[in-house]
Amino acid sequence: MSDKSVVLSGIQPSGALTLGNYVGAIKNWVAMQETHDCLYALADMHAITVRQDPAALRERCYEFLCLYLAFGLDPDRATLFVQSHVAGHAQLAWLLNCHASMGELTRMTQFKDKAGQDTDNINAGLFDYPVLMAADILLYQTEAVPVGHDQKQHLELARNLAERVNTRAGEEVFTVPEPFIPEVGARVMRLGEPTAKMSKSDDVSANSIYLLDEPTAITKKIKRAVTDSDGEIRYDEAEKPGVSNLLAIYAAVADCTIAELERDYAGLGYGRLKTDLADAVVAFLEPLQRRYAEFYEDRSQLAGILARGAESAAARAEPTIAHAFRATGFVPPV
Ligand code: TYM
Repeated sequence: MSDKSVVLSGIQPSGALTLGNYVGAIKNWVAMQETHDCLYALADMHAITVRQDPAALRERCYEFLCLYLAFGLDPDRATLFVQSHVAGHAQLAWLLNCHASMGELTRMTQFKDKAGQDTDNINAGLFDYPVLMAADILLYQTEAVPVGHDQKQHLELARNLAERVNTRAGEEVFTVPEPFIPEVGARVMRLGEPTAKMSKSDDVSANSIYLLDEPTAITKKIKRAVTDSDGEIRYDEAEKPGVSNLLAIYAAVADCTIAELERDYAGLGYGRLKTDLADAVVAFLEPLQRRYAEFYEDRSQLAGILARGAESAAARAEPTIAHAFRATGFVPPV
């Protein structure tokens, strides 16, 4: 094992990955594999908190893996694995459940939002979801968790649970993780409604740029993005959410700063900004989509990557499970 600090993050294989997922999370994942000891999960156990077609869920796991690879996540440098392949996630979630209170889980805004949307399927897993996420993180003694802004409250719960268990056990069972949230782009907004977050499960596809969208669809969606009427290209989330969102996306895909964009576009109109942004997004996604298609062709390579990832993650999870079980009072297996 290396002495680099441990990073873990995950994505639920539900819906279709959007540019929001890249800008808020995957961009940092790629950068961090150079400097950290990284584990990146396909969080299929989280995905079943909403109803899934089993065959489609399985297929989506492979599709998302291909996108991870196409972005440059490298199985030689990071552990890429499916959450359900490592039994420790469910084992630790149970243990943490017995330290999490109903009150704190009831306060989770994502639970309230999701329970409000899908009223005929408010299952116990949906309620318990943040505890499973805490287990994902604490299982590997994770120090940093690169995520978008919407996961901040879940991270806070993971930290609280780690501290609570450590205090109750009178020893350090878990490392207390830190969120790692980008300064710009932590909350990419819907193109048509820039006061709400872009989401991979949005029913209105015009709100999101999907990573596998065709160039013509991308251009059309960006041209129709909601802006405002004052015509000035300036970053101001409160007053100008639409334009600020376009600038944040632009900065992420073109690897430049918002200040540079504000300077370059001073005095130019929204039309020009949108045309250039559409070109920049297409130029960014085209090579990614080509690499995706290549990875997708070779199922046996993908299966090999997942087998390797599962083996490595399971081996790394084992000491934490053993420690947490011992600290809880479970009799060690003989
Ligand atoms: P998920 O699958 O909803 O999203 C994956 C990642 O993308 C980020 N993200 C965004 N960032 C910026 N703007 C947006 N519009 C946007 N939409 C999504 C999310 O913040 C996230 O980082 N519970 C997690 C998955 C998970 C996980 C974990 C994350 C499971 N176990 C352990 C970290 C550690 C989720 O549902 O993310």
